[in-house]
Amino acid sequence: MDLFDKCKQYERVKILKEMKLFPYFQEIEENNCTEVKIDGRMVIMAGSNNYLGLTKHPEVLAAAHKAMDDFGTSCSGSRFLNGNLVLHRELEEELADFLGVESSLVFTTGFLTNQGIIPTIVNRDECVISDKENHASIVAGTLIARAMASHVKRYANNDMESLKKLLLQLPPAAPKLLVSDGVFSMSGAVVDLPRLVQLAHGHNARVMIDEAHSIGVLGDGGRGVSSHFGMQNGRDVDLVMGTFSKSFASLGGFVAGGKEVVDYIKYNSQALIFSASMPPANVAAARTALRIIRREPERVQRLHDNAGYMRRGFRELGYQIPDDPTPIIPILIGDNMKTFRFCHRLLEEGVFANPVVSPAVPEGKQLIRSFFMATHEKRQLDRVLEVFGLVGREFGLLN
Ligand SMILES: Cc1ncc(COP(=O)(O)O)c(C=O)c1O
Repeated sequence: MDLFDKCKQYERVKILKEMKLFPYFQEIEENNCTEVKIDGRMVIMAGSNNYLGLTKHPEVLAAAHKAMDDFGTSCSGSRFLNGNLVLHRELEEELADFLGVESSLVFTTGFLTNQGIIPTIVNRDECVISDKENHASIVAGTLIARAMASHVKRYANNDMESLKKLLLQLPPAAPKLLVSDGVFSMSGAVVDLPRLVQLAHGHNARVMIDEAHSIGVLGDGGRGVSSHFGMQNGRDVDLVMGTFSKSFASLGGFVAGGKEVVDYIKYNSQALIFSASMPPANVAAARTALRIIRREPERVQRLHDNAGYMRRGFRELGYQIPDDPTPIIPILIGDNMKTFRFCHRLLEEGVFANPVVSPAVPEGKQLIRSFFMATHEKRQLDRVLEVFGLVGREFGLLN
């Protein structure tokens, strides 16, 4: 047996490619945010996290260009040593102010942020408690924490009874970090934050929320999930984690919270210290996006209007759509191959959306994940609905 035998025997992709159904790594030849060119043809993008449609905003582009002119294309090192710019600090200060906390710290990606925070803050014999549907980067962080002899426990998705049971089994005095996505990226559901915080506070647990899909989306002016529930960062949520790769039209991640804790992460996280820092253009793009979000809260409202319009539209077609206030709308298909075929037909009809198959979701729960933006025009949304109607009828999902 050779180490690489598994690579030779890896058939899944080959089969889907032969069937011309492979939906991943699609090459985008041109990107106009709500429409992209694939195989020489413009299609409507209903599968992107560019929630506020800011990736081609003239101010964001100009700021990125200027930062590149001023600082070059790369920081060529980590923030710990040579790669720490005045731009990083300015972004951190503005972000902390936006989120209503003392301090924030930016990392190179959101994935690295989760991987960096969890094992830094949870040590030997302390506990991480994680929702079973948390993002892969949280799972990666918990695996490193486990390797360093902390305890990792998981509870059923957004199920506060399951969480309560788990907490009751753990030593009351053990220090704990309770970590959850704010909006679950597969279902678009919002975490039950009021109940989660209540349970955490009763069981010596600190709360960390991954706001990748809720910053710029939920709450007052896009301030995230605490604001959505009328709660407070710093008091109810101890650590806010987020990414700049979605509403902020850039690349990078952050953690925000009390100064002492953020400083501790800054001086101890390997993911921060041993990886090159967020490049100048990305820092400037994220900072400008943040300023636009603060100046123009109506963008967040437009995102909700579009998401609400699509949820109603899908329901009117006959799809069962959950009732969540987010722009992530799952359409249940229920079978792997059917999901791939469905996705392929959507693309043939000019709509790009994402297939989600097992094992990412349980058998029978395979779905098409659609995402909407503040900048989608009504004619584009109507076309998406028309195509989902057409393809849904072809597949016998609709009457
Ligand atoms: C919930 C969640 N957390 C973290 C990440 C990682 O963010 P990034 O793209 O900045 O690495 C993502 C990205 O998909 C996400 O959906």
